[in-house]
Amino acid sequence: MSFSPDIATFSFAPELGAEIERIMARYPEARKQSAVMPLLHLAQKQHGGWLPRAALDHVADFLEIPRIRVYEVASFYDMYNTEPTGRIQVRVCTTTPCWLCGSDDVVRAAKEVLGVGIGESTEDGRFFLREFECLGACCNAPMMWIDDDYYEDLTYERTKAVLEAIKAGERPAPGPQSGRKGSEPFGERHTLLAKPGPDRTRTGGQPAADHEPERKGRPDDHQHDPTAPIADAAHEQVRKAKKGTLDDEIVAIDPKPGESKTAGKDSD
Ligand code: FES
Repeated sequence: MSFSPDIATFSFAPELGAEIERIMARYPEARKQSAVMPLLHLAQKQHGGWLPRAALDHVADFLEIPRIRVYEVASFYDMYNTEPTGRIQVRVCTTTPCWLCGSDDVVRAAKEVLGVGIGESTEDGRFFLREFECLGACCNAPMMWIDDDYYEDLTYERTKAVLEAIKAGERPAPGPQSGRKGSEPFGERHTLLAKPGPDRTRTGGQPAADHEPERKGRPDDHQHDPTAPIADAAHEQVRKAKKGTLDDEIVAIDPKPGESKTAGKDSD
């Protein structure tokens, strides 16, 4: 990977001062190099979607770390562009879940609206189109990431509508374009239908003090189950038998002074 020189010097715009302070406040002074990624994001935004060499150097000098450390980060992570690109970054996820849900249609629509191929920028320098690996929104696949926003539940038509609107200078509401909220199920709810199991809040999240295994199912099933007391008695017997076996094994492994490892066993 090469770094484009583009400009001789770079420095953060004064209006980003408050944002930089907010980022730096997250890290102790001795660990301020941890701010390298958010600062690179900021620099990339300021410079119109990509990072010239001067911006990388400025971030390194700002954090007082060797410049090579910043070059390593910028060249490793896919979200940083080290060559000139269009300002509006359109990234279409084409990893398997999105592909199965129709990301080919999303790519096709994006190419048609923007008039460029994957990895290309529009002639006016406004848009940059690329494919991306999973962006963590698979439950709302297929999706694309435009600048800071996710557009989800896309189809060919919805992708076109979003990109046409952005081309016209608008910013459509991000999120699912299907009308659903978040990743709620389409149609009726079909998960989390049963009542929750035993409440562990009274035991601080721990199993009950006697370490009895939890009985599966709804908590009130037990009182209507005539076989439950019999099952409980059988369970207790098994528990005791197991405990006896365990005690024997402990004696055999770790005998008391003067006892052989076979103490308590047949010794003829
Ligand atoms: S596969 Fe596309 S967001 Fe995960």
